[in-house]
Amino acid sequence: MTIPSPLCLRLIGCGLFSVFGMASIAAHADGREKSVALLPKYQQECSSCHVAYPPDMLPAASWQRLMNGLPQHFGADASLDPETVKQVLTWLTQHAGTGRDIGKRPPEDRITRSSWFVKEHHEVSAATWKLPAVKSASNCAACHTRAEQGDFSERFVRIPR
Ligand code: HEC
Ligand code: HEC
Repeated sequence: MTIPSPLCLRLIGCGLFSVFGMASIAAHADGREKSVALLPKYQQECSSCHVAYPPDMLPAASWQRLMNGLPQHFGADASLDPETVKQVLTWLTQHAGTGRDIGKRPPEDRITRSSWFVKEHHEVSAATWKLPAVKSASNCAACHTRAEQGDFSERFVRIPR
């Protein structure tokens, strides 16, 4: 049993995360555990252009919309065959975020436009977001050195110069 940490409470309020997300965020604070293990198919198909985002950072409704619009995915063609779409979507929906903030679809179904995301990144300056090594807020791995492992805790944040 993971005890919700002060970090977790400050972050978004643990209740806003699914049981899995809650365990993972609380665990991030002490670094003992990783987030929910990624479905290999999801990891394989959704991490070539950006990190495979943690499923509990968006509500099921957003994952549904994203997975049903892969041919026009933020200006990219991320098409997959129907069977793969179904498998990945089922898994994403099972592990999607729930609760007051995270349960609501953010604009464009972007994690980076969620209210909790904006709050957590209020210290990041406009100039930092535009650094050549960052380019986009969606590029989590530019600053979160363990984003690929699903670990976004502050001790693994390094702002590139
Ligand atoms: C061909 C490249 C490509 C593939 C493959 C791809 N994406 Fe993306 N994705 C993008 C681009 C480009 C963006 C927009 C990035 C930006 O704004 O800087 C994006 C953004 C996103 C975002 C929003 C990030 C934010 O700003 O909060 C989500 C969520 C997302 N992708 C999910 C997925 C999922 C799920 C898959 C697998 C089914 C996937 N992507 C596969 C190119 C891709
Ligand atoms: C330009 C660098 C940068 C990028 C890109 C970035 N972050 Fe962050 N992130 C930060 C900083 C700085 C903090 C605040 C750390 C602190 O509280 O000291 C933070 C905090 C967080 C936190 C809260 C962590 C905690 O322990 O309180 C989460 C969760 C998070 N980011 C997720 C993401 C995700 C998901 C993405 C990509 C969609 C992303 N971030 C992109 C710099 C970045």
